[in-house]
Amino acid sequence: MSQQSKFLQALSEEVQAIPPIWFMRQAGRYLPEYRQLREQAGSFLDLCFNSDLASEVTLQPVRRFDLDAAILFADILLIPHALGQKLSFEAGEGPILDPVISAKDIDLFRTRDVLGPLEAVFETVSKTKAALDEDKALIGFAGAPWTVATYMLAGRSTKDPASLRLRYYQDKEFIIALMDLLVEKTITYLIAQIDAGADAVQLFDTWASGLPWPVLDAVSVGPISKIASAIKKARPGIPIIMFPKGVGEKAGEYAMLPECDGFGIDYAMDPSWARAHLSGHTVVQGGLDPLVVIEGGETMKNAASVYMKLFHDVPHIFNLGHGFTPETPPEHVGELVKFVRGQS
Ligand code: CP3
Repeated sequence: MSQQSKFLQALSEEVQAIPPIWFMRQAGRYLPEYRQLREQAGSFLDLCFNSDLASEVTLQPVRRFDLDAAILFADILLIPHALGQKLSFEAGEGPILDPVISAKDIDLFRTRDVLGPLEAVFETVSKTKAALDEDKALIGFAGAPWTVATYMLAGRSTKDPASLRLRYYQDKEFIIALMDLLVEKTITYLIAQIDAGADAVQLFDTWASGLPWPVLDAVSVGPISKIASAIKKARPGIPIIMFPKGVGEKAGEYAMLPECDGFGIDYAMDPSWARAHLSGHTVVQGGLDPLVVIEGGETMKNAASVYMKLFHDVPHIFNLGHGFTPETPPEHVGELVKFVRGQS
């Protein structure tokens, strides 16, 4: 009989004495074995498009820490790249997209196929799935349209989100057309990840943070719910996790969507509020500040205990409130996993 992973059990609302554990950015520069393969691959994009190496990098943290789920190694910016926007990752600078898009690009992008250029990503999914033990789940992902759009419009990580907010008021039709384009391409992309073997998918909306509520509804809740309902219709059994960062009490709007199986809380969200207002509607995932893992020891354990105690009687997934940073000592991650599993 096949053994369902603890991660999928939690998403089917099973209460577990020890929650499943995985971490955002669990693969990455804090791991020496990642840095070695990254160097071997050449650039970050070369690594994303080499399915053997990308699959190996996906598996590295699962092996090292015996985590309950792997997350596909790829990036949210592969969609703009596949649409034809030139992308590079500069050391110390993060992503650079060129040229910044305008209204005339949207019609062209609509005609572009994202499946062909991203074939290597689906190969990474199927290779990883084949290599994973059956009690481990594989998570596929994409960026939510607003977050991906911020990079497409600014050409880099947004240092000034105000200018994009203003753009929405000045040029609403353009922003909504861009959201619709990204909704459509993201649905196609995620269904292909599922067909290649992803057991669940997560939508990252990192730059949802700080948007006024009517704008948030238009550019984040709306597009995310469209993607989620299309995926539910096409692939009904696949759980969907939403991670709109920094949305405060607006989290309730996402959590109440019938398509929201899991909701990732960020490190700024009060976990007692999340327990009281979200847990009845969805499975809460994460919350721990990744910086406490840099500090480690009692500071890290005390912070982790808060989540473990608050969510012990509801389905729950242990995770961070945003990704690990490169300074994180891998030994601290090992200690955290042991602590959550009650082994130390
Ligand atoms: O382990 C995993 O989490 C899976 C792979 C993953 C990456 N990026 C790999 C990556 C995932 C899920 C992402 C999501 C992602 N990418 C987000 C949403 C989540 C978040 O962190 O807010 C965003 C905004 C991006 C865009 C992006 N990619 C930025 C801003 C950067 C540069 C910043 C940085 O950390 O270097 C990247 C590069 C990137 N994506 C790296 C990794 C491991 C580092 C690249 C390197 O090795 O040089």
